[in-house]
Amino acid sequence: MTALTLTDTDLADLTADAVVIGLLNGEGGPSLAPGAEAVDVALGGRLLDALVALGASGAEDEVVKLATLGAMKTPVIAAAGLGRHDGAVTEEAVRRAAGAASRALGGRATVASTLALVNGEPTPGMVQAAGEGSLLGAYSFSVYKSKPAPAHRQPPSAVQLVVPSAKDRATKATAKRASAIADAVALCRDLINTPPNDLFPAEFAARAERAGGKAGLDVEVFDEKALKKGGYGGILGVGMGSSRPPRLVRMSYRGRGAKTKIALVGKGITFDTGGISIKPAAAMENMKSDMSGAAAIVSTMTLIAALKLPVDVVATVPMAENMPGSTAYRPADVLTFRNGTKAEILNTDAEGRVILADAIARACEDSPAYLIETSTLTGAQVVALGNRTAGVMGSDDFRERVIAAGRRSGEGMWGMPLPPEVRKGLDSAVADFANVGDRSGGMLAGGHFLAEFVTEGIQWAHIDIAGPAYNTGSPWGYNLKGGTGVPVRTLLELIEDIAGNG
Ligand code: BES
Ligand code: MN
Ligand code: ZN
Repeated sequence: MTALTLTDTDLADLTADAVVIGLLNGEGGPSLAPGAEAVDVALGGRLLDALVALGASGAEDEVVKLATLGAMKTPVIAAAGLGRHDGAVTEEAVRRAAGAASRALGGRATVASTLALVNGEPTPGMVQAAGEGSLLGAYSFSVYKSKPAPAHRQPPSAVQLVVPSAKDRATKATAKRASAIADAVALCRDLINTPPNDLFPAEFAARAERAGGKAGLDVEVFDEKALKKGGYGGILGVGMGSSRPPRLVRMSYRGRGAKTKIALVGKGITFDTGGISIKPAAAMENMKSDMSGAAAIVSTMTLIAALKLPVDVVATVPMAENMPGSTAYRPADVLTFRNGTKAEILNTDAEGRVILADAIARACEDSPAYLIETSTLTGAQVVALGNRTAGVMGSDDFRERVIAAGRRSGEGMWGMPLPPEVRKGLDSAVADFANVGDRSGGMLAGGHFLAEFVTEGIQWAHIDIAGPAYNTGSPWGYNLKGGTGVPVRTLLELIEDIAGNG
């Protein structure tokens, strides 16, 4: 992982391999953001002219590099576009610009960044955003590359944030926090990006056990025998088509001075073929990301332990591989869940809700005040909200708190209703309900199915991350291709909100 440190050294004396400055996009052309002054002075006041000559506009995701040719000790300047802002630059604009700069600075081992300074004297939020963005943009997944990337494509290994006082204790704590967050997001991304032949349920559980153990969490893994004994018919049903049996992982964290109990649940389908209701071949490879919710929950657990938050949190994470075959569950099967209710399976590709039903039922047995579940649940989420905005359903007030946490973290979230007529679509002639309804309101039907397993009185939210969990397009901001780490940062914001406000 890339190291994050603070510096208050004069930019003219700084000996990094590159310095990052911010460039604002304005009506009449770009302008240098605060923090770039010393660099401009070193270049004889000609920095903006040079950038304009190179075509820089200050647009989001634009990074223009220029050589300093001996004018300062640092050989390269990278001007990162912040986009257009009427007032202060937003934290998310800084986070994205910092990420884009890290992606553009392959081959530059040490990078100094002035991006915390773009609104003048930095707030903790600005230091965190510049730190997070720099680290997340420097992420790479190279486990499966036989040869290391050429030097000019190696992401920065050290980022120094330029701040007014590098010794300031609060600022140092903020940088440490940004590092911890980036570590958790990297763990989440690594798990998602690992191919499904290597990351099957038992292996995923073993990795969760290892990561949780290292973070000081209690981790318990239920194998197929324990699942049978516990009445987890949904997880077993979905998992039985695979030669690699399902698992259920329970991770718990007890914070000092905790007043509130929180349950986390995440969908861990290590590969989703659709099962007997098989998916088309096109883009099926993206279904290795169908465990993104579980990866986010496992990573969030390690993060709240690292940050020692004063809450009690138990994660319940079901893991299975959805395969077709002679042992697979089939349309028309009826499965009995942990809480005794029964569902008629009408489509084996709606498997996420089936494993989540058991997990949510189990999580509710602990009587948490809040239950937060996240999953790559429906293609309908992507149709409705696109690739960068998650759909949030659940209890009215709590749903709004999740969305507000998303606004703080920079992860896009949008509230969705659970209208009663959509629930009616899940009625079954045979069992208590079916696992799918008609196509209309597909995202909401998924939410309704999960709602059936939440005990009355528990504030709950379901975050459908089918689009935002996995980037199949080009890199942007602090995101690479592959796993993004959504919604780890929102979960942290939300859990901190609960820790502080109940
Ligand atoms: N894992 C998919 C949802 C998904 C789709 C995630 C695209 C990421 C990108 C889920 O298991 C699924 O197949 N859902 C079905 C539900 C349907 C059968 C009711 C879907 O969305 O088509
Ligand atoms: Mn599916
Ligand atoms: Zn799925």
